[in-house]
Amino acid sequence: MGNKRIIDALNDQIQKEFYSQYLYISMEAYCADQNLDGFSNFFHVQAQEEQAHAYKMFNFMGRIGGSVELEALAKPKNDFESVLEVFELALAHEKSITKSIHNLMDIALEEKDHTTTAFIQWFISEQAEEEESVEKIVKKLRLMNNNPAGLLMIDQELGQRVFNPIPLDA
Ligand SMILES: [Fe+2]
Ligand SMILES: [Fe+2]
Repeated sequence: MGNKRIIDALNDQIQKEFYSQYLYISMEAYCADQNLDGFSNFFHVQAQEEQAHAYKMFNFMGRIGGSVELEALAKPKNDFESVLEVFELALAHEKSITKSIHNLMDIALEEKDHTTTAFIQWFISEQAEEEESVEKIVKKLRLMNNNPAGLLMIDQELGQRVFNPIPLDA
């Protein structure tokens, strides 16, 4: 039997990763509706990454003697004014996830659980990268201020993004 505090916090985080996937699928759908296939592709890849995050934690759960327990997912926002609004929300969401990962790390440290601490370290670096990449796009979009030519240029750029699988073993 593992540490209940850690197991509960990890289950919470698994929930948040699956919700992130769900939110990004909603953003993917909005961008597809706008015929912005590159933006849509960006969120398609983003959603795949979130699922991979959830499964990485899923697999780790077995190593610390816990069980995965899923809850219902909330309905994600699905009406947006612009891709800028979409990316502003994506950035705010990633920032809240970073807080949550840091909180998970605090719990692991308090519990002196070195195995979990080492595991969560990967997610801390990953969050910093995610925030940085989304923030870059937000800044570009703000700069363009809904200029259609600029929007199509970024759309083309984001169409190049591909999903790079991460190691899912814990
Ligand atoms: Fe994630
Ligand atoms: Fe994320």
